Order: sequence, then structure tokens, then C-alpha cells
Amino acid sequence: MARSVRVGFIGTGGIATRQAKRLAQLEDVEIVAGADVSEENLKEFAEKYEVPNTYADYNEMLQLGELDAVSVCTPNYMHKDPTVAALKAGKHVMVEKPMAMNAAEAQEMVDAERAGEATLTMGFQYRLGPSAQAIKRLVDEGRLGKVLFARCQALRRRGIPSWGVFGQKELQGGGPLIDLGVHIMECAHFLMGEPKPTAASAQMFTYVGNRPPEVICPWGPWDWETYTVEDLAIGLIRFENGAVMSVEASFAAHLDKDVFNVQLMGEKGGCLLDPPTVYTDEAGLMVNIEPAFAGHWQAMDHKIDDWIARIRGEKETQCPAIAGLNIQKMLDALYASAEAGKEVAIE
Ligand SMILES: NC(=O)c1ccc[n+]([C@@H]2O[C@H](COP(=O)([O-])OP(=O)(O)OC[C@H]3O[C@@H](n4cnc5c(N)ncnc54)[C@H](O)[C@@H]3O)[C@@H](O)[C@H]2O)c1
Repeated sequence: MARSVRVGFIGTGGIATRQAKRLAQLEDVEIVAGADVSEENLKEFAEKYEVPNTYADYNEMLQLGELDAVSVCTPNYMHKDPTVAALKAGKHVMVEKPMAMNAAEAQEMVDAERAGEATLTMGFQYRLGPSAQAIKRLVDEGRLGKVLFARCQALRRRGIPSWGVFGQKELQGGGPLIDLGVHIMECAHFLMGEPKPTAASAQMFTYVGNRPPEVICPWGPWDWETYTVEDLAIGLIRFENGAVMSVEASFAAHLDKDVFNVQLMGEKGGCLLDPPTVYTDEAGLMVNIEPAFAGHWQAMDHKIDDWIARIRGEKETQCPAIAGLNIQKMLDALYASAEAGKEVAIE
């Protein structure tokens, strides 16, 4: 049997716990360490997953010789430094979405990977879900023809997180655009064949999050006094090949129900991510193609499996670090455009 891959976590909160659940199911993986500034989270995590080595400072954890790989599951402002430090220490890294606070940080992370032997994997999972993989096959077969437009929607009616630091711009880089929009944008960009973005235009609005809650919310009251991010982001991205992507992301949109979906429109056909459907013309008819079965795995599990397989050198990843950098450039440009009140170029 192959030697176990020994994994450590930097940040042992919500998403780390979800990732660890999958890792614990894999026979050839051990969770050997965890680092967190929250004693409480670290203790709970270590007890649940029987983690032998725990640290308040992740730099100490990185000195653990037996550690092969590190998952960075900290708030966004704490993605770049631990990722770079872990890569420098020769550990393979997966970093949670979004890659970083901005593209300059993301570039540093990509450069750190290029400078050494260890790999950096972007923790994007939407592209790895059964629907996205099914749609990607149909897109790659040419069922849509040239893709012209991607519509990305990540809209919650009232879903401002009441935990963590999701409302604090200086710690997260932004609000629902960087937190939720990123998921659906990475998926859409993957489905489109990852064209090069050239310009972005956006507007951001804050009208609920920075005031005390006036209605009963599913996740209870949030920290409105520290809320400095947008409630609603609307944007448009242009690509070098002439295609465009629109983005709608919100923690608090006044709409019927939450939407989390991608729609593509091409010259020969269009598609929806969820449920996976292609709309096209065949045999003189407008037809809808729906896979009878697209698979039923959990995208998050697949992301972990994909990472471990990459570490073992068994396959290429569909979530390379460069994908994170590309999305980060789009996010930066959308925020910059809203700030400037005009379209901005993406280098
Ligand atoms: N892929 C997904 O679907 C998904 C879902 C949720 C969150 N996320 C991402 O995961 C990251 C964490 O989100 P979360 O929901 O787990 O947040 P969380 O608040 O539940 O957990 C973050 C943990 O990081 C710890 N931490 C903060 N600073 C640290 C430091 N310097 N060193 C070590 N630990 C530190 C905190 O104490 C906390 O335990 C965010 O970037 C978020 O965008 C991804």
C-alpha cells in the first residue's frame, strides 16, 4: 500500500471541518496537525479528528518534518502568508477560495509555487461537481458552438453570515462578490474554456448589512456594526475572445428565493448548470438535452480526492493555482470599477 499522505490544517473552523470529514474517509491519508489562533476551534477539531499535533502558530506546524501537505482554511486576509510559508517549507498546499485578498497576493502565491517543488492547488469545487463536469463535456463537444455569454448568479435573499469575519472588508477583501460570486465565476470561467479577461465594469450597493436586522433571518443577527462590505454586486466582464460574463452576487437581495447558478449562451446552444441542461437545435427542432445520470458525488469530496491524487502524482488537477489568480484579477477589477464608477482594464 502507498504511504499515507500526511495533512495539516491552518485554520480549523467551518470549512476545515468539512474537508477533514472527507480526508478522514480516505484510507491513505492522515490528519497529523492543525494550527489555529482560536484555542476553542483547534481543540474541538483535534478531538473530533484525533489530530496529534496542535499549534497556535502555523509557522511552528510547518517545521513538522512528517507533514506532506497543508490545507489553508483561514479567513481571506490570512491565505497568502501561510500559503507562501508552506510552499517554501516544501509542503503541498490547497488554499480555500477566494485565493487571496487581491491579485497581487495571488500572484505572489503563484510565484512561490513556481519557485519550488511543492504544488499549489486552488480549493475551487463548483467546477468539480457532477453538473459542471457533465456540462463541460457537452461544451467541449461543441454543443454550444462559440460561447458568447455567461450569466453568474449567487444571490441570497437574506444570508449574511452571523459567524466569522465575512462582513469586514479589510479581513475578507469584500462581501458577497468575493465570497459567493467567486464560486459561480470559477465554475462559469471553467465551462467557458477560461478565456482571458480584458475589462470589467461593476456597481456595488450596501443597504441592509450595515444596519441592525429588521426581520427574522435564517442565520440570526450578524455583526452589523463592523459591516463594511457590499450587500449586492452587479458586474460585467469582457474577454479577449469577445465573450462577456455577467455577475450578480448578494448576501441580501430582495427576490423570491436564493439563486446559485450559471447559464451559458453560445452561437449553437445554451446551457444551465443546475439542473444540467443544454438547449440547442437538432433535427429541425429546439431540443433540451438533460443527462439521464450525471453522477452523484459531492463536489467538496471530489475536490479533496483531486488534491490528494495530485499530491500523489496520479493526475493533473482541474484547479491549478493560475485559475485562482485569473478569477482574482476579475474580482479586483470589478471592485475597482465600482470604486471608479467606470469600466477598468484587466492586465
Ligand atoms: N469552498 C467552500 O465552499 C467554502 C465554504 C466556506 C468557507 N470557505 C472559505 O474558507 C475560509 C475560512 O472560512 P470558514 O467558514 O471556515 O471560517 P471560520 O471562521 O469558520 O474558520 C476560520 C478559522 O481560521 C482561524 N484563524 C484565523 N486567523 C488565523 C491564523 N492567523 N492562524 C491560524 N488560524 C487562524 C480562525 O480562528 C477560525 O478557526 C474562507 O476563506 C472562506 O471563504 C470556503
